[in-house]
Amino acid sequence: MTAFNKIFDAARLTRIAGKFGTPAYVYDEQAIRNQCNNLKSAFEGMPVRFLYAVKANDNPHILKIIHEEGMGYDTVSYEEVLLGLRIKPDPRQIFYTENNMTDQEMEAAIRSGVILNIGSLTRLKSFLEHPGSHECSIRLNPGIGDGHHDKVDTGNRDSKFGIRKDLISGCASMAASYGKKIVGLHLHIGSGIRKPENLISAMGVLIEYAQYLPDLRFINFGGGMPIPYREGAEPFDLSTFAKLAEKVIRNDYRNRDSSFRYYFEPGRWFTAQAGVLLTRVNTVKDQGNVTYLGTDTGFHHILRPVLYDAYHAVVNLSRHGETGDKLYTIAGNICESGDILATDRKLPETSEGDLLAICDAGAYGMSMASHYNRRALPAEILITGGSESVIRRRMSAEETVDRHLADTGF
Ligand SMILES: Cc1ncc(COP(=O)(O)O)c(C=O)c1O
Repeated sequence: MTAFNKIFDAARLTRIAGKFGTPAYVYDEQAIRNQCNNLKSAFEGMPVRFLYAVKANDNPHILKIIHEEGMGYDTVSYEEVLLGLRIKPDPRQIFYTENNMTDQEMEAAIRSGVILNIGSLTRLKSFLEHPGSHECSIRLNPGIGDGHHDKVDTGNRDSKFGIRKDLISGCASMAASYGKKIVGLHLHIGSGIRKPENLISAMGVLIEYAQYLPDLRFINFGGGMPIPYREGAEPFDLSTFAKLAEKVIRNDYRNRDSSFRYYFEPGRWFTAQAGVLLTRVNTVKDQGNVTYLGTDTGFHHILRPVLYDAYHAVVNLSRHGETGDKLYTIAGNICESGDILATDRKLPETSEGDLLAICDAGAYGMSMASHYNRRALPAEILITGGSESVIRRRMSAEETVDRHLADTGF
């Protein structure tokens, strides 16, 4: 089993489903705080700070918990900037990595005072030309990528992200010609990295190119720290990674002002294991070769299995503790045959009405959810010690449709 058994109690999740209904994401606050602390202690004593990649889970209650643990925010849209500012009003703790940013978004970001991280030469030029701008960070494409799937490998040479290495020295002179400063250098090689040594190598590349930027105050090595989704998979060896990273950082820090800082910006690391999606089986269907468990959720609530072929462990909470010897495929309720959440899973004999937990769903779960098929979003529940609170109320089908009609002006 994954971290699920260490974090969640099956009987309690069953009570929560009974009280708040399904589908519902359930998060454990202490598990999120523990991940924050693991990270802080692994890098203790180093000139390192952390940002939370808001895209992983942007529920404001989760953002607040992570803010209380001392993390800034890594944001990737102006909407995320606005959200972050509501919770962490100090704009200097919000890092905005733009991606095809519009002029209007740039204008608003400059006004907000957040740190803008620019990923293309033309956008850098328009930023420098803006009378209100003075300093920014730039994103390097290191030519080294990684990630749990090709779709989230962002650092390879051909990826759409970052500025080519050979253009970095030109960025410095361009900024100087406008009397402005590039104060940060960033990369993000990908999400859910498979080989930590790739990130260590990319860190070396970033430091190599930092020499072209005389005004730097920080270097940001991005996120990507993975969690083990499969039963029996080795967890990410954070302490070994931190030791390797320390060598790279200390070597560079020797030549820096003492106020210089190095950042990491993980998302998944903080919230993935701390969340489950509870769903009820309402249809058991034997199609001859495949037995489907049809659920009251689907890829509109948890996209990762469909988008990335991602594996999430599934537990039948109604039969918890029983051995699993039946093969099931777990299907969502979206009208597409591709809406499969898990294939060929060994579970105990499962009946209609049974409660399933889709594990390790706290990152890139709810934040990627949609109203496809005009379905309602799931509720979100936060476990804090002995209590549980609703951190996103469940909207009825009627409200969902009313909202749709109102938004379309119908
Ligand atoms: C720029 C940037 N930083 C950080 C992250 C966080 O990645 P992860 O959740 O794998 O740590 C992402 C995710 O794709 C990202 O695009």
